[in-house]
Amino acid sequence: MLLDQTRLPAREVELVCTDVPALVRAIRTLAVRGAPLLGIAGAYGVALAAARGDDVAVAAELLERARPTAVNLGYGVRRAGGAYREAVGKGVDPERAAAVALAEARALHQEDAEASGRMARYGLALLDELLPGGDGHRLLTHCNTGALVSGGEGTAFAVALGAHRKGRLRRLWVDETRPLLQGARLTAYEAARNGMPYSLLTDNAAGSLFAAGEVDAVLIGADRIAADGSVANKVGSYPLAVLAQYHHVPFIVVAPTTTVDPDTADGASIIVEQRSASEVTELTSLRAGVAGADAGGSLVAPVGTPAYNPAFDVTPPELVTAIVTEEGAISPVTGVGLAELCARSSQVTIS
Ligand code: MRU
Repeated sequence: MLLDQTRLPAREVELVCTDVPALVRAIRTLAVRGAPLLGIAGAYGVALAAARGDDVAVAAELLERARPTAVNLGYGVRRAGGAYREAVGKGVDPERAAAVALAEARALHQEDAEASGRMARYGLALLDELLPGGDGHRLLTHCNTGALVSGGEGTAFAVALGAHRKGRLRRLWVDETRPLLQGARLTAYEAARNGMPYSLLTDNAAGSLFAAGEVDAVLIGADRIAADGSVANKVGSYPLAVLAQYHHVPFIVVAPTTTVDPDTADGASIIVEQRSASEVTELTSLRAGVAGADAGGSLVAPVGTPAYNPAFDVTPPELVTAIVTEEGAISPVTGVGLAELCARSSQVTIS
């Protein structure tokens, strides 16, 4: 059972997925989204297939292929799938092997919650070190990285929330995050629920906000971090990194070590998901804020307009001031530093 993120902020609606194809649809339509949560959903999906007596290998492949960029999805699927296979290999009956897969999904869920708390602490310590004194931090964030995408309170958003709880958040600037408005629909919803001082801006207003000296640091999450420290995150992150460098503002990435992919050498090797042109050319139900209703997509561009619609972009390590994980932070961002951080991680190694 998922909280259907396509219905937020207007409605809090549960979405019940009784089989893996339904979960794959939920992933593709962004009813469930965000890197850490995709990992958790993928692991529960494998457990669901096992409990139903479906072919677990086929289900795992469907899930892994549902979206290509967030490395956590494959990680979660392989964690639960590996546990299931190991149990079956030891002669455990399918019903008990399904329970093993479920236990593994729950363990991942719990680990992610704990990682979230640790990232918040490391991230806040880093912010206070980089930005001493003052009346609190003015933080700019992009996309959605809070409790909605995590077993705990999230990644970048959890740091901002930690600052808020300590009276150290002056303002959270929330990028609208076009075209699917994860910032407006989801981060603003989370900020409001937590009583944080926040303001929403269109993505293209970020430049003038920096120029006005209103941003002390940028905090974002990540969908995949390559071995060299290149960061794939929601499209629009890279322009923020360029702006941040020009304006001498720290650009900080907050992500669990499960988002680091040692098998992807560099930014150029990261597969960036390309999404439908209609997300740009039409006022889809999601963008109109009436998801699930019969919205019927009004056009905002001439019929047949082709669109460039990558879901993510890649920020090179030299534009990233620091990467914060549950194992600590590195700055500057180097492949060696990242490998050392990941070596400290107690996460289960999987093949
Ligand atoms: O397409 P989405 O909404 O799944 O993209 C999500 C992001 O880009 C997030 O910033 C990222 O997954 C980090 S979530 C902690």
